[in-house]
Amino acid sequence: MASSLSLLVAIILCFSSLRCSNAIGKGYRLISIEKSPDDGGFIGFLQVKQSNKIYGSDITILRLFIKHETDHRLRVHITDAKRQRWEVPYNLLRREQPPRVIGKSRKSPVTVQEISGPELILSFTTDPFSFAVRRRSNRETIFNTSSSDENFGEMVFKDQYLEISTSLPKDSSLYGFGENSQPNGIKLVPNEPYTLFTEDVSAFKLNTDLYGSHPVYMDLRNVRGKSYAHSVLLLNSNGMDVLYRGGSLTYKVIGGVFDFYFFAGPSPLNVVDQYTSLIGRPAPMPYWSLGFHQCRWGYRNVSVLEEVVDNYQKAKIPLDVIWNDADYMDGYKDFTLDLVNFPHAKLLAFLDRIHKMGMKYVVINDPGIGVNASYGVYQRGMANDVFIKYEGKPFLAQMWPGPVYFPDFLNPKTVSWWGDEIRRFHELVPIDGLWIDMNEINATGNKAPLGFKTIPTSAYHYNGVREYDAHSIYGFSEAISTHKALLDVQGKRPFILSRSTFVGSGQYAAHWTGDNQGTWQSLQVSISTMLNFGIFGVPMVGSDICGFFPPTPEELCNRWIEVGAFYPFSRDHADYYAPRKELYQWGTVAESARNALGMRYKLLPFLYTLNYEAHMTGAPIARPLFFSFPDYTECYGLSKQFLLGSSLMISPVLEQGKTQVEALFPPGSWYHIFDMTQVVVSKNGKRVTLPAPLNVVNVHLYQNTILPMQQGRLVVTFPARASEGYATGKLFLDDDELPEMKIGNGQSTYVDFYASKVSFALRQGLVIERVIVLGLEGTEQTKRIEVSSKDQKYVVGSEDKGESKSFMVELKGLEILVGKDFNISWK
Ligand code: NOJ
Repeated sequence: MASSLSLLVAIILCFSSLRCSNAIGKGYRLISIEKSPDDGGFIGFLQVKQSNKIYGSDITILRLFIKHETDHRLRVHITDAKRQRWEVPYNLLRREQPPRVIGKSRKSPVTVQEISGPELILSFTTDPFSFAVRRRSNRETIFNTSSSDENFGEMVFKDQYLEISTSLPKDSSLYGFGENSQPNGIKLVPNEPYTLFTEDVSAFKLNTDLYGSHPVYMDLRNVRGKSYAHSVLLLNSNGMDVLYRGGSLTYKVIGGVFDFYFFAGPSPLNVVDQYTSLIGRPAPMPYWSLGFHQCRWGYRNVSVLEEVVDNYQKAKIPLDVIWNDADYMDGYKDFTLDLVNFPHAKLLAFLDRIHKMGMKYVVINDPGIGVNASYGVYQRGMANDVFIKYEGKPFLAQMWPGPVYFPDFLNPKTVSWWGDEIRRFHELVPIDGLWIDMNEINATGNKAPLGFKTIPTSAYHYNGVREYDAHSIYGFSEAISTHKALLDVQGKRPFILSRSTFVGSGQYAAHWTGDNQGTWQSLQVSISTMLNFGIFGVPMVGSDICGFFPPTPEELCNRWIEVGAFYPFSRDHADYYAPRKELYQWGTVAESARNALGMRYKLLPFLYTLNYEAHMTGAPIARPLFFSFPDYTECYGLSKQFLLGSSLMISPVLEQGKTQVEALFPPGSWYHIFDMTQVVVSKNGKRVTLPAPLNVVNVHLYQNTILPMQQGRLVVTFPARASEGYATGKLFLDDDELPEMKIGNGQSTYVDFYASKVSFALRQGLVIERVIVLGLEGTEQTKRIEVSSKDQKYVVGSEDKGESKSFMVELKGLEILVGKDFNISWK
């Protein structure tokens, strides 16, 4: 332990001294490389050039494995050639195992110089060893570890210290490396620390590592006017610092292996597709989870829950999900009920009532299991030997229930026990989802030397795995177990919200950004964190609306719901000691909520379709503007506006006292979604000052889009000034209780919409009641509108396009079903 602590201190010291890494080693020499017989990869061996004892001895012989795993994905894996080292377990994050050729180190001389794939080419130098990755199409080098760059030294590989660097062009725009509240926005800023080690540090603390660990970045470059994006994942769960200097990037890692994956892109959407095809596609979310959620620590009995639900109804603010924090438990013990404040029959009656209304109920769960001989969960846990150990015994920490042990989710027995406890609890209380909190792990009360509020790194898991290595995958492994348990118990698509996340967590859980503050800064930062999680493959994400603590000014809460209504995961939550923050508490906030959430609810089919796209391709639900406008460099650092999908842009007020917002409009026509007569035409991209009174949020829909909305509405947009034009859109609907989300199972509908400037067709339910067409040519009257389906034809009438260059077709009564082919034409 003492050694790990001093190591961390040394790494932190190294942060402030750019040259100190140069002293650590002279690097490695490539002594052999050959084609691996079975799997199409290459295996090489590296020998240390000059060993030293700084941060421990160098590992003398390393094994290198290189493979173009797909057309767009290259893997470079480097580990100890003689001894197996810790890696993110292959059963948790499924991927190919490099061939195990331990010790076979001097086979063939180095004759290979390049290993080419369809998109990426890897080349290397032998003495000292370095490698570079370049893009075939434009020859741009995307990664280069050669220490000829004066900013960094040679590769270092010791048991508890690994270091490797890459040079970067100065004008690269980098995104990622989390979880971190980045006050400067989504684009990484040189010389800021990026430390990755899961910790319960409140989200309002800036530029520090937080609850999750995601050692991945996306690099967006504009090469001669054309954009190219790629991303790089270092799949390693050990604590690390990433030092970004602008012209270079250095990883300093305290264990594990180098397991690099390069994803070729070239568009940001290609990158997330390629990334999530490796780490796991984001979980399909149930439709209801896209509704609005209300939570609070301090809903201390059933009557309070009832009152909150009733007040939302009275205020006519939509609410789909009501949550309980730890208040429902008996003495903070997991899977128990405080029968005084939550009498079983009363709780069941309440749940029955809200379930009949179509609402859902989600509760919290903390990993610390109370050590208490009369507590069944504990007894069964002990009987199954499911806890993390320290010096041969379950590790004892202090948490809210008092003394606790922590389940070890890397142990298969724990997974079964956990599933059984969830089943028992579900029989007691028919919950609809689970919220797994404090899973970094937080162990308040324990004075662990490495890190903060967590368990000692010398505690160990199943099979002798050290906490030192597995620390940052705790929340991930808990999410996997919880997902399995809920799926087994409910047979439905699970909903899980997890605070701690790792690479791959999006496959199992949604995420909220933790304990923020009721401040304008927390509101601003919430956008960058949300956008980063989209890049991390966790698209169902949001922040505590109105701030977790302390009191929130009314004006801020107005602005917060105007942003939060467009978070993929939209939940109001507050701390025990904070004043009440439900949206109906203030008259003005209630009005803003009705406006903004009213729009969210109309957009639910669209959000659900985005959820489907995320599940199929990893496409984030909320996206930075550069995802749709990668060639428009103005938007590369934009963190105060964002997109839902590819074409709905939110431009909120994020500052106190403002009733206008200055928004950037990428080139094209943008229609105000609340008032469709307003259009911003931006020829080459421009900044526009938009009115934004307290209850107004600016949301614009891009040209060439068909937007399916609830209440039977489709909005079709064309460029406001162009002779040619078409618009497209998609809609996915299914039975959202199905564990799987896909087309072709007989229980889903997928619709492709297409519209030209004279007609609209639906290829392939729901009844479409109204179609709104925006951005037509000229101002003359549209004479005749015809609607035809396979066997029928209706003349719906004529409409005056007028100045707004738009018209609306009322289809009520025609029974035009979503999923049935039909056509609307106008002349
Ligand atoms: C910490 C979580 O971040 C917060 O959301 C929750 O209210 C408290 N734990 C209490 O459970």
